[in-house]
Amino acid sequence: MSLKEEKKSEDDQFHELYVKLPKKRLKSRLFAQYRGFWFEEQVLRGILAFRQHFEAQDSDIVVATMPKAGTTWLKALTFAIANRHKFPISESPLLSKNPHQLVLFLELNLYEKGKIPDPNSLNVAGGQRRIFGTHLAYQCLPDTVLDTSDCRILYLCRNPLDVFTSYVHFFYQNGAFPDLAEKSWEENFDAFCEGTNQYGPFWDHIKGYKEASLKNPNKVLFLHYEELKKDTKSCVKKMAEFLGCPFSPQEEDERVVEGIIKLCSLENLKNLECNKHGEIGMYNVKFSSLFRKGEVGDWANFLTPSMAERLESLMKEKFGESGFNL
Ligand code: A3P
Repeated sequence: MSLKEEKKSEDDQFHELYVKLPKKRLKSRLFAQYRGFWFEEQVLRGILAFRQHFEAQDSDIVVATMPKAGTTWLKALTFAIANRHKFPISESPLLSKNPHQLVLFLELNLYEKGKIPDPNSLNVAGGQRRIFGTHLAYQCLPDTVLDTSDCRILYLCRNPLDVFTSYVHFFYQNGAFPDLAEKSWEENFDAFCEGTNQYGPFWDHIKGYKEASLKNPNKVLFLHYEELKKDTKSCVKKMAEFLGCPFSPQEEDERVVEGIIKLCSLENLKNLECNKHGEIGMYNVKFSSLFRKGEVGDWANFLTPSMAERLESLMKEKFGESGFNL
């Protein structure tokens, strides 16, 4: 089969599947439900291509998050930790590139809208190990990531109250989402609570990774943004151990952990020239929009008491009596 025919047959297969999926409209955007989660068509194309064509290697690292849970931070830290022998801090590519340029999303960048990249070109940053990002739920990952390779998955979750707050600011800061930015906080909030926002519902997303990390702690490391803020050093050491590259006593003496934390801090990244300008991906996300306050509990400045109550009780319903403290 020629390349053209192959592409046509993939398009046909996509349409065959797509027409059968449940749909939901949010303003001008149409979302389809696939394996229990909601995606726009162009994102879904990338997901299917990733699922069909990606082949994981044992040494691969996949960093997974819901959008606005701290993806940029997790990508930066993972990149700095896993590549520290190749790229010492003073020569880190993180000083001249945005973390999202060094750790590409599988479904949004590498397999964007269904394209199939050359497998030899996947290590975009030339690091010691290939590191990939995804916003996909555990339930949507392909077998090559989950079962047939020994690759590791790092998941960062964040209190949905802060995720939602961050999310809405992100719409406002990016001209790429004018219709969502136009919607009131309440309208966006309804979609978030119904689970019909892109990559939602958040509760199944979080639960999928949580359960996998309990079942197979060597495969999936489950991290909390709040814990990462509170005790970054312990979390960074835990990440390095999980990735099979713990910090040596000599590195500890040389304060390499502290150096990585400083390099990846919000203040440092936000003020680098490379993060002030430029954008990435099909949604033209501005680098500058990825660094805001990075505070725990900022939701209290934006959500009304009734919105907070609704989300808190939804979390209790989905996660059990202790709510988000899962
Ligand atoms: P706020 O909007 O609450 O400030 P994502 O990277 O998944 O898009 O998430 C963005 C959120 O992470 C934003 O939260 C942003 O400020 C915060 N963030 C970005 N870089 C960070 C860093 N290096 N350390 C801590 N938080 C960071």
